Amino acid sequence: MTGAAIRRPVVILISGRGSNMLALIERSRAADSAYRVAAVLADKPDAAGLRAARDLCIPTEALAAAGEGRETYDRRLAAAIARHAPALVVLAGFMRILSAPFVEEFAGRLLNIHPSLLPQYPGLHTHRRVLAAGDKEHGATVHFVTAALAAGPAVIQGRLAVEPAEVETHLAARVQALEHEIYPLAVRWFCEGRLRCHDGKAWFDGAALDRPIQLADADRE
Ligand code: GAR
Repeated sequence: MTGAAIRRPVVILISGRGSNMLALIERSRAADSAYRVAAVLADKPDAAGLRAARDLCIPTEALAAAGEGRETYDRRLAAAIARHAPALVVLAGFMRILSAPFVEEFAGRLLNIHPSLLPQYPGLHTHRRVLAAGDKEHGATVHFVTAALAAGPAVIQGRLAVEPAEVETHLAARVQALEHEIYPLAVRWFCEGRLRCHDGKAWFDGAALDRPIQLADADRE
């Protein structure tokens, strides 16, 4: 592995349960991990993931919105993140739309995970919409964040076949299992210096990605 001698600090932002956060923390504890989770921040003080992170001895902070404007909140959030000097900021179910100045401040080192095969189904209720459309395939995407919602350069996708008569909760659980594979891989690649965002594209091992890496191929990395 390249560049793994120093574990680079990442900050994770959550709003809820934090199952992706837990997958990221778990992988960070491998002997050869390229990253460490420096802190977990949440916009919801009662986010279950905050307690789970504290139980694992990860520093946490809750930043409840106090009725201020989006940019004012985002400045507070950016300052809280910057205190940990992260190499990478990881959105893991952080359910706020981020202002352009925030995205600009962390440009190129801001990743998000979305429960669909982007560019299909940006927005909410992706599993329900996939089932309603009768799609045969579904999945999840890790992408760099740009000012356009869920539209930054895609890095990696995990995909699955929708089962006949599959219900939403079952499909959601299967997509989440894929998320728990693809997110730690993307964070690891970034922290190893193999993945970066440049000229509006994701680059992997020095080559611009025309399409996101597929988990089935990445397993061989
Ligand atoms: C994840 O499924 C993630 O893809 C989704 O929120 C969930 C958080 O779950 N994010 C979005 O929909 C962002 N648009 P978790 O708290 O268990 O990680």
